[in-house]
Amino acid sequence: MPTGKKPAEGTEKRSGRRSSLTVRDNRTGGEYEIPIERGAIRALDLRQIKASETDFGLLSYDPSFQNTAACQSGITFIDGDAGLLRYRGYPIEELAGRKSYLEVAYLLIYGRLPGRTELANWLHNITYHTMVHENVKKFMDGFHHDAHPMGMVVSTLAALSTFYPEAKQIHDSEIRQRQIHRLVGKIPTIASFAYRHSLGMSYIYPDNDLSYTANFLAMMYRPSWTARYDSDPVLSKALDTMFVLHADHEQNCSTSTMRTVGSSLADPYVASAAAAAALYGPLHGGANEEVVRMLQEIGTKDKVPQLIRQVKAGKRRLMGFGHRIYKNYDPRARLIKEAAESVFAITGKNKLIDLALALEKVALSDDYFIKRRLYPNVDFYSGIIYQAMGFPTDIFPVLFAIPRMSGWLAHWQEMLMDQEQKITRPRQIYTGPRERHVPEEAT
Ligand code: ACO
Repeated sequence: MPTGKKPAEGTEKRSGRRSSLTVRDNRTGGEYEIPIERGAIRALDLRQIKASETDFGLLSYDPSFQNTAACQSGITFIDGDAGLLRYRGYPIEELAGRKSYLEVAYLLIYGRLPGRTELANWLHNITYHTMVHENVKKFMDGFHHDAHPMGMVVSTLAALSTFYPEAKQIHDSEIRQRQIHRLVGKIPTIASFAYRHSLGMSYIYPDNDLSYTANFLAMMYRPSWTARYDSDPVLSKALDTMFVLHADHEQNCSTSTMRTVGSSLADPYVASAAAAAALYGPLHGGANEEVVRMLQEIGTKDKVPQLIRQVKAGKRRLMGFGHRIYKNYDPRARLIKEAAESVFAITGKNKLIDLALALEKVALSDDYFIKRRLYPNVDFYSGIIYQAMGFPTDIFPVLFAIPRMSGWLAHWQEMLMDQEQKITRPRQIYTGPRERHVPEEAT
């Protein structure tokens, strides 16, 4: 077996050490040198490692992608051990409260904070596209009265694809930007229609004189017999901050879905519908809803030890705890706790917060959670704030989907521009029967 390929140029470090990995295949005695770039080896470099001439070559096996980078991305940086989150280099702590959600959405999608004119154009383009086609209303009217709002949002996002067939021209930059404006602009409208449909209330059209979140709150709560709805500015600001915190989180389940579906060159409406479907799951964006249900179920602080016992016995998960990447405090959870104060000053304290704090205290001092490095994630406190703001529990995942749309679109666009990306198509290790034959039919 020959020695593997030469290290790629530039793998020599100044120290004289090579930035490469030497692999010895004990099946054959072959030795291979595999370059390390940016802390990773290329999985395709493993293919040269073969047990025989006819062997396909070595695969890496990584169920649920726990240690596989599927792309290079310049959008969001997370250091899970240090509890750092940065959008395009800016720490989340500096963006939250100082920049509006739409400025952050622009930052994520275009890579820089907008200047004055860029921002004015961006705001114009988003507000210009907040309205939905009248047939979207008819489409939504067809949902059952008790349909989950997230199911309605997922389906309606996909249905938008039929309204904008031009969206299939994903390589045309101008057309692509128009779909970005439409998706960011329309998702609050669709979300509020889903909510009002579930209450049997007439839909409220967007008011383009209002800010993104003030308009959303008006579409949710404005009585149909009044001409205006002025939400409390503290609450629309707090919601805007929540949107900033939820806007992106690199290659999470829903964003990876957006990239996967987008990689087949599907249009962004069906791709974002798929991403929203991934977000709907209780282990992802559906967790905020589950946290509140869990807290309501236990009801009082004296039930906390019983819940912890059930969790430790593996009977259930402590919803809102744990994260694939953060093994230290989720910085978003800290910022949300701070935002809670401003919301409670207006709405009054949500009594679930004391229960959540008591639960957090017990969990953080328990060996089970310490050993597994399980901390509160963004969803542990978000539902409590949303509930205090008057949102019903089943709209919580929708409140996550609205801002995450900008993150999905940023990644979708980055993926389309990336020359290295092809259609996503993982390999498998086949474990089924080798070959079988259908028995001859008895005549
Ligand atoms: N409660 C109890 N135990 C947990 C929890 C939890 N919330 N999360 C992880 N664990 C335990 C697992 O049982 C496992 O224990 P073991 O080693 O004894 O088997 C260990 O911690 C590692 O857990 P994994 O499931 O391997 O971790 P993974 O990275 O796959 O999962 C996830 C991350 C899905 C977020 C998980 O922590 C979880 O289910 N949390 C609850 C749901 C939740 O809050 N989701 C929101 C995530 S944030 C977001 O999407 C915005």
